[in-house]
Amino acid sequence: MIDKERLPVHVAIIMDGNGRWAAKRGLPRLAGHNAGMLAMKEIVKESSRLGIEHLTVYAFSTENWKRSEEEVSGIFRLLVRYVDSELRELHENNVRVKILGDYSVIPRAAVERLEKTLAMTCENTGLRFNIALNYGSRAEIVRAVNRIREDMKSGKIKEVVEINEELISRYLYTGDENGNIPDPDLIIRTSGEERLSNFMLWQSAYSELAFTDVLWPEFTPEEFRRLLEQYQNRDRRFGGRK
Ligand code: IPE
Ligand code: IPE
Ligand code: MG
Repeated sequence: MIDKERLPVHVAIIMDGNGRWAAKRGLPRLAGHNAGMLAMKEIVKESSRLGIEHLTVYAFSTENWKRSEEEVSGIFRLLVRYVDSELRELHENNVRVKILGDYSVIPRAAVERLEKTLAMTCENTGLRFNIALNYGSRAEIVRAVNRIREDMKSGKIKEVVEINEELISRYLYTGDENGNIPDPDLIIRTSGEERLSNFMLWQSAYSELAFTDVLWPEFTPEEFRRLLEQYQNRDRRFGGRK
């Protein structure tokens, strides 16, 4: 049983295993990514239903460019198609969509469609659904440092200001004029791999990690709830003592 009073505020998911799911069935990798989008759709709905405040999914990493052109463009196409076809429902469910990562590099038409979604949902007050797209944590930290330097040069921040954790957090993709996205309380990775693969290195300092062997396209709301329940049995100490 999930205690609705003690839900993680921010759940992040490294959606892994699409390729292996497809290979197991003798299908092309893109069929796996397509099935992965369907799984993602269900988890967004379940998160809304449960009343989770922030859901972040790792959709494409800065390292995923190493894959074939066909796979890369296919992933972007599927993602834009998902966002397009779900836009109305996302909006009706009061979901606010945000992209974490440099998405300006993906095809122009796709950028425009994503921006339409961002604009349309930007006032929504329900689930905050963050899609990490062309996201890499090291690139994110480097970008933050460069942006701080620029803002110091232009005088937007005083040169004498002390650089502290709060300042750096504000300049990450998870920083936000309307209040930062809180650090993930729970990071889930599917498919049996147990690593972060350049995801939220700064923000995960005290995240609980949950690994499941289930391949992402087979990840269900039931499995999601099982991991949430497991999270609620963890003892989070943050370096202190009870
Ligand atoms: C995760 O599935 C989706 C992305 C990384 C874009 P993979 O494509 O990594 O699937 P596997 O790890 O090859 O099974
Ligand atoms: C991590 O999965 C990136 C995403 C889920 C988008 P990968 O499949 O790319 O990670 P590695 O290569 O197994 O570490
Ligand atoms: Mg993988």
